[in-house]
Amino acid sequence: MYTGFLKNVWYVGLPSSELAVGKSQARKIMNEPIVFFRNSKGTVSAVRDICPHRGIPLSFGRVVEDTIECPYHGWKFDGSGMCTEIPSLCPGQDLNPNKIKVRSYPVHEAQGLIWIFIGDKDYDMSKAPQIPVMKAFGNDVKPKLTYVVNFPCHVDHAVIGLMDPAHGPYVHKSWFWRSEKTMLEKRKKFAPVNYGFQMVRHQPSKNSKAYKILGGTPTTEITFTLPCIRVEHIEVGPRNFYSYTALTPVDEKNTRVTQLAYWDIPWLTLLKPAINQFSKTFLGQDMDAVTKQQEGLKYDPSLMLIKDADTQAKWYYSLKTEYHDHLEQKRDFNHPVKETELRWRS
Ligand code: FES
Ligand SMILES: [Fe+2]
Repeated sequence: MYTGFLKNVWYVGLPSSELAVGKSQARKIMNEPIVFFRNSKGTVSAVRDICPHRGIPLSFGRVVEDTIECPYHGWKFDGSGMCTEIPSLCPGQDLNPNKIKVRSYPVHEAQGLIWIFIGDKDYDMSKAPQIPVMKAFGNDVKPKLTYVVNFPCHVDHAVIGLMDPAHGPYVHKSWFWRSEKTMLEKRKKFAPVNYGFQMVRHQPSKNSKAYKILGGTPTTEITFTLPCIRVEHIEVGPRNFYSYTALTPVDEKNTRVTQLAYWDIPWLTLLKPAINQFSKTFLGQDMDAVTKQQEGLKYDPSLMLIKDADTQAKWYYSLKTEYHDHLEQKRDFNHPVKETELRWRS
């Protein structure tokens, strides 16, 4: 079981809405300080947030046209990480700024998210898990709701906590959700997808109040892909609702959870404040559970993954381990998930 951080994969850096034109934003990802900046043309770049001159974070500087300018001595770096100007140099002083580089990262912006590829320089990115696209919407779609929260735990516990089907009645006890009094047996079909697995399209359970407000006969499909992205796609007739959750490891003890919602159901927009509150409460309950869990994990107990309720957690670990191992051993990826039906009570 590989419990480190996966590399050669795409992670969410930040929501597009958090990075205005001509601004920068610092984010720690997998223990690396990274600065994202958006140039005057709107293009986003990401470089290591440490000036190679004296180490001050570049994010304290400003964005000047296509570059980020160090706040200390004004060296400028472009999106490829190349130094384009050293203001203190006099004519004739022979030092080529372009030879000075700060590490840069591939960046991709789509559907309201800025993604960053953390991996080896020479890695063929086309072989990596692709960024999940919401097929009902175009590239320019903006999330109706965006919520970013830090979970004070390792990414593995955050992922497993969020995908866990059995904690609902205990952790998410609310009048608008459900309690253990209404527990039912669930049977769900799962199938492998590229670098992940999917709970195949079905009608949500009768005891899920949140689905009821959608009316009609909603069907839902939930897809998990590496490194840690969960997309739920609810269809109600021709209309769509997506809940998009992407996790980014910050360090061993912190994980950033980016929760977005997208929809094209016009009347649902009236409920935006309620849906916003619902997501915050819901994620807050998950965060509370993993925060309390930390108290026990301090003692490094051995843990269990049991039967069908924990099968998705097992799949997560095997996908992650296989991704890590296939890179290390320079061989093809062997998908560890087989089509199956899982049963649990919740
Ligand atoms: S520390 Fe950045 S330019 Fe000197
Ligand atoms: Fe939860």
